[in-house]
Amino acid sequence: MAVLVTGGAGYIGSHVCLELLKAGVEVVAVDNYRNSSPEAVQRVKALAGKEMPVYDADLLDKDRLAAVFANHPLNAVIHLAGLKSVRESVEKPLVYYENNVTGTLVLFETMKRFGVGKMVFSSSATVYGAAASMPIHEDAPIRPVNPYGRTKAMIEEILRDLCFADPSWSVALLRYFNPAGADASGAIGEHHRGVACNLVPYITQVAAGSLQSVNVYGSDYPTPDGTGIRDYIHITDLALGHVKALEHVLRSTGAKAYNLGTGQGYSVMEMIRAFEQVSGRTIPYTLVDKRPGDVARCLADPTNAERELQWRARRGIHEMCADAWRWQTNNPSGYA
Ligand code: UD1
Repeated sequence: MAVLVTGGAGYIGSHVCLELLKAGVEVVAVDNYRNSSPEAVQRVKALAGKEMPVYDADLLDKDRLAAVFANHPLNAVIHLAGLKSVRESVEKPLVYYENNVTGTLVLFETMKRFGVGKMVFSSSATVYGAAASMPIHEDAPIRPVNPYGRTKAMIEEILRDLCFADPSWSVALLRYFNPAGADASGAIGEHHRGVACNLVPYITQVAAGSLQSVNVYGSDYPTPDGTGIRDYIHITDLALGHVKALEHVLRSTGAKAYNLGTGQGYSVMEMIRAFEQVSGRTIPYTLVDKRPGDVARCLADPTNAERELQWRARRGIHEMCADAWRWQTNNPSGYA
């Protein structure tokens, strides 16, 4: 049983490859290393004590992708490759539509050509936009509010159409909430080119002393401490969700969405405090204006994933912060 992981060297991809290898799955990875490092896959192989062919390939390169499929008999694809910055997607929508949507179309055409119809797709809670009710169930309306979110929503729709056209296809649309943390080994984690935008990597860099203070975006939200609440999910739990989703698509047909979150929310201040506890460092912060486009609360209803994928997040925020901190202290410059 062999699985192709696109974006296998990325933050999520490296953790997914590690958990697949640990579960005894044969993995083939592709990555264009645009936002990732070949060092990540070397470490994954060392941690798992297993081999994994990795191709330096861009999904837009049809011939190169076809060569990967021709070299390896594949049973399924876990599709994680894509650009993921909301802000950049607003500034450069065409780059996002071309890379995320066109690249994915090339992948789907190649899958069809080689008779591979099982897919786990990396979607995002971003597809819900500002959801009307919390926690968010998968049936909530899809109304993304930025180009990045629209690329995810479009790919979900394309996959549903593909499953309708060919009933042998099977797809799990995994809608991630806020992935954070690192593998407990401290050997793989989130590597940034430049300053991090997401909360946990930003806090980590402040704790390490490379940034001065955390800007807390908004302190008058209708939440107990006034700061925004999110559903942070440990990257290893998220990765294990992919292993379970893979098992599910291999035994089913049709397309279905699953929220990957914990169902439990924490505020920005709670995350800062948790990080202070695990790192033993004081984390300076500054209360600033809200970030445009942010919502007060975003929480998953993960019951579908629990029921149908037999998956549930088990790690809490202290473990998440401790693992992020171990990765940071072991690798002050990431993979560089
Ligand atoms: C962001 C993306 C989302 C993506 C997710 C995971 C936006 C609008 N959304 O979600 O599409 O799927 O990351 O990669 O960018 N915060 C601060 N200070 C900071 C950074 C964040 O106070 O320096 C706050 C935010 O206001 C929010 C929380 O921390 O309340 C989490 O922010 P962040 O980590 O950026 O994730 P999201 O905005 O939830």
